[in-house]
Amino acid sequence: DLNSLDKIVSLAKSRGFIFQSSEIYGGLAAVYDYGPLGVELKRRVNEAWWTSMTQKHENIVGVDAAILMHPKVWKASGHVDGFSDPMIDDKESKRRYRADMLIEDHIRKIEEKGDTERAAALQQQLDTCGTRKSMTEDLYDIIMAEEIRSPDSGAFNWTEVRQFNLMFSTQFGATANTEDAKVYLRPETAQGIFVNFNNVMNTARQQVPFGIAQIGKAFRNEVVARQFVFRMREFEQMEMQYFVAPGSDEDWYLRWKEERIGWHKSIGIREKNLRFLDHPQDKLAHYAKSAVDVQYRFPIGWQEVEGIHNRTDFDLSQHQEFSGKKLEYFNPQTKERFVPYVIETSIGLDRCVLMTLCDAYREEEVTDEKGKTETRTVLKLHPKLAPITAGIFPLIKKPELMEKARAIQAELSETWRVQFDEKGSIGKRYRRLDEAGTPYCITVDFETLEDQAVTVRHRDTMAQERIPIDGLERYIRDQIKS
Ligand code: GAP
Repeated sequence: DLNSLDKIVSLAKSRGFIFQSSEIYGGLAAVYDYGPLGVELKRRVNEAWWTSMTQKHENIVGVDAAILMHPKVWKASGHVDGFSDPMIDDKESKRRYRADMLIEDHIRKIEEKGDTERAAALQQQLDTCGTRKSMTEDLYDIIMAEEIRSPDSGAFNWTEVRQFNLMFSTQFGATANTEDAKVYLRPETAQGIFVNFNNVMNTARQQVPFGIAQIGKAFRNEVVARQFVFRMREFEQMEMQYFVAPGSDEDWYLRWKEERIGWHKSIGIREKNLRFLDHPQDKLAHYAKSAVDVQYRFPIGWQEVEGIHNRTDFDLSQHQEFSGKKLEYFNPQTKERFVPYVIETSIGLDRCVLMTLCDAYREEEVTDEKGKTETRTVLKLHPKLAPITAGIFPLIKKPELMEKARAIQAELSETWRVQFDEKGSIGKRYRRLDEAGTPYCITVDFETLEDQAVTVRHRDTMAQERIPIDGLERYIRDQIKS
């Protein structure tokens, strides 16, 4: 459903998940800010990933490397020479690209590859824009981005294509404006891990196999970036490099593939919306021996959320060569010395947040207290990701109820973010928190003053239960875990 991305964009804005950056100035393209609910959701996703990596694996440790790195890093990594996208400069060539044939060709190719859903979605989008000439810039750019990125495409022959490096650069220090003073904003976090290989191995007393995890900002001056937080110019990555002995690399690659798909399910993503897309051997990046994308079925079609790569010893070897420093592991048992191979898992935090929103978004027909049917919008987020875990509602604004509800709020807010709400009917309060993805709503009523119990209403089933106040925290904790 193509409208659903629009709906998510609009809910994200109206409920304060995600805003366009510098909106009052007309916005900055492909740069976004997180609002009060979004920042909480993003932190929960970040936390779920970090815990699963560093807390649940004793041999994976974290780092937080700087965004600015020595310029030679990007020479060694290949980014200065190779990190570019083809770009079409002039308007005339762009117009020529607009030929119907190309677009129809593109849709046919997608269909042939077996992605009939994506093909149908594009076709539908194309049809709804009326004449081809009035096709929206967005659709045009999306199609062009796919077309020029795919190596077997004929698009390259159509016009002059300029290679455009995706790295942002800036000047370092006060003596600026010389080529020597040029530094880059990192386009991936991975290199901060590779250059710290010796530091971490020596200080964290790790033996191969071991991993280093990092979450942080990355910057890419994307040529086409119009799909909300799917493709941004400033974004966050969550990456883990797992250093292994050569020979054991393919085994670990397969193990990480399984482990990562398991993580996606553990944050509540429905299995039917997840799949692997293995990269064929002849299409691999220069550093990779095997590569797979974890794809999610976004409203814009199946798209990558995460990449898992066997990067071999490419990166460490490159950094050895460019830095002149050894980046080796010595195995005390076998007395062997080697440059480890690297299995990398790399996922965009923002893209992952978008995935959780897409997967959670529902519109449901419900009947209100007066028997009237209405549509409720609900975010069925995994309870552990919910920005607000519980709503606390005094039935009416009577001092005794308010006091009791405030006491419950004080207790639960030790552990979770909760929201006190005394305004409007209970039904309205439920709806507000349904849209925020809040899994539990707790109502304090007059009976509470007698039986010291509250009504807990569940977001997904709308079922209600009576729970004693002194067991409430435990109850919510168990619910979140199950
Ligand atoms: N170190 C490997 C690496 O950076 P990548 O496939 O270029 O690999 C990994 O990026 C992940 O980062 C992607 O799967 C995606 O989730 C996220 N990502 C990449 N470019 C992005 C962008 N412009 N906006 C948002 N997320 C992006």
